[in-house]
Amino acid sequence: MKYIVTSALPYANGKLHVGHVAGAYLPADIFVRFLRLQGEDVIYICGTDEHGTPISISADREGISPQEVVTRYHNSIKAAFDGIGIEFDNFSGTARKPHHELASDFFIQLYENGHIKPKSTLQFYCDHDKRYLPDRYVEGICPRCGTEGARGDQCDKCGQIYDTTTLKEPRCKICGNKPEIRETKHWFLQLDDFREQLKAWISTKDYWKENVRNFMLGLLEQGLIERSITRDLSWGVPVPLTEAESKVLYVWFDAPIGYISSTIEWAERIGDPERWKDYWQDKDTQLIHFIGKDNIIFHALIWPAMLMGQKTGYCLPHDIPANEFMNLEGDKISTSRNWAIWVDEFIQDFDGEYLRYYIAANAPEKQDSDFSFKDFQARINGELNNTLGNLANRVFAFAVKNFAGEIVKTSLDSDSKGVLANADSLLKEIEAGYRDYQVKKNTRLIIDIARLGNRYFDERKPWSMIKDNPQAVQETLYVCANLLAKLSIAMLPILPKHMQKLRNMLAQTPLPRFNHAYELLDNLCLQDTKPLFQKLEDEQIDAQLGKLHSMAKANQEGDKTSYDAVKPAITYDDFAKLDIRLARVISAEAVPKTDKLLKLKVDLGFEQRELVAGIAESYKPEDLVGRTISMLVNLEPRKIRGIESNGMILAAHGNGKIMTLIPDGDGSPGVVVK
Ligand code: 2FM
Ligand code: ZN
Repeated sequence: MKYIVTSALPYANGKLHVGHVAGAYLPADIFVRFLRLQGEDVIYICGTDEHGTPISISADREGISPQEVVTRYHNSIKAAFDGIGIEFDNFSGTARKPHHELASDFFIQLYENGHIKPKSTLQFYCDHDKRYLPDRYVEGICPRCGTEGARGDQCDKCGQIYDTTTLKEPRCKICGNKPEIRETKHWFLQLDDFREQLKAWISTKDYWKENVRNFMLGLLEQGLIERSITRDLSWGVPVPLTEAESKVLYVWFDAPIGYISSTIEWAERIGDPERWKDYWQDKDTQLIHFIGKDNIIFHALIWPAMLMGQKTGYCLPHDIPANEFMNLEGDKISTSRNWAIWVDEFIQDFDGEYLRYYIAANAPEKQDSDFSFKDFQARINGELNNTLGNLANRVFAFAVKNFAGEIVKTSLDSDSKGVLANADSLLKEIEAGYRDYQVKKNTRLIIDIARLGNRYFDERKPWSMIKDNPQAVQETLYVCANLLAKLSIAMLPILPKHMQKLRNMLAQTPLPRFNHAYELLDNLCLQDTKPLFQKLEDEQIDAQLGKLHSMAKANQEGDKTSYDAVKPAITYDDFAKLDIRLARVISAEAVPKTDKLLKLKVDLGFEQRELVAGIAESYKPEDLVGRTISMLVNLEPRKIRGIESNGMILAAHGNGKIMTLIPDGDGSPGVVVK
């Protein structure tokens, strides 16, 4: 049997937070590590989801290219995965050329089979920007609840999805003008063509999780509406039809194809370019998609339909373990409210495997769960440190002190046999649990093995036997060493690094098979024993809670930018390319029809310049005239609202305010800042 395991491709438009990890990544990584312990042939595939309107909007807002946004977050997300030991066989990105080629091919095959059809639709068009506006480029008043700032197609406040053209008082998000409604053509996936085939297929999936299966059966009963799969954007996979100029594929159409294109990239990277076909084009492959519950419809309905509509025979998903959500301190995780634990920050303060353990022990498998720092502390201290770590510490300390770390295979009395048999039956449950994605239950069962060991150690009182009956003490140590070895295998998928360390101390092979857990150890000599875990102190936890609340508060007050992702390091030479100087403002006026922009004329000593600055929310034009400010002088000229802007004013953005940077002393215009 071969396995392709995938995790939902994260959008390259933000950093990774614990909610993501709990939903789609840690459960998959644990499953893959378990399959490897079973000796299975498995590849674990992922990459970033690099298209879509939000990325385009972020790029516009920052004045950089979408590719720059994507590269920044691809690197940040990959580093966060590395920091918590999520190890993919390949981590690609959907903006790469082979992905574009495959996505075009998917479209063409569906199109040629008659499953994609064009249709005229009404859409907003901005005459000022000369372009059709995708839904997220339009803002207005929700036709249902009257909320301001509702998106073109959906209101974030009341959740209502509506026809774009019913939005009240629509505005173009680029220029603020009122867009008009024009007719345009889009291409629609004829999902209903696949209804019977999907029904027959899903009826064989009685082992699916209920949240996925019931949801699907409900949708299939209702009938399937055609889905628009093209958008008016320049960022994305161009629609491969001559009559679809300036349109790209909808991000959700191309994203799942990334599972295949990332596998193709993997095959090329390992120097065996055709190898991906052994997985994707073999009907016996088990294709397993780990996702969060918000992705069910795309993976269980639209993606299988896309695969069914291909001439190339790809395998269909075998299973789609969808997880519920992880909340944070009793409230929904929200990136816009900055109510989140960011993985890159968390691993600066804690061992990444503590996060793995806590999420595994608290996995939102059947219902939403909650990340609470106090509970995190209680579990790491109580379960890892005081139970598992304690068993290892006391057994190792005793063996080192009394037997120079030598533990010998002994005969076993009925108590000892009983304890080992109990552990083996827990192991059986754990093995079945992993197959069934029951990570939460498994962490409990594994800790139960450690509890068994601690109780046995206490009952045998080796400290009172050591003088008179060293043989009995050796038996105690031998049984406990076996329990530790068993749980080092059982826990390996969850805590790979710590369990490797434990296995090293026990002088056991670092890469066992799960079956080895049922075997008894030979004589061994402990190696380099050390405490496995460290207690978390109250101060550490209080500091985290303080940070969480203050970040959310600062965010509420408008201070969003101070928590922007740190950009990748640049060389001194890169920095030296910036020509920053002092400039004196000669005149300032508001740019018509905007709230944020001022047109400034500045004196640089050697010349005068005109530029547009987005600082009007904090400065009146008259406040600026006569001031000396800092300015990036050698930025390429850009047209902003039809005005050529020759440079950029430097300002700090924080606490809802914009603050221009002024020199601490008299500085004449033209003086260099470095
Ligand atoms: O919800 C998300 O984060 C999407 N980027 C998931 C895409 S999964 C797959 F289809 F690529
Ligand atoms: Zn516009």
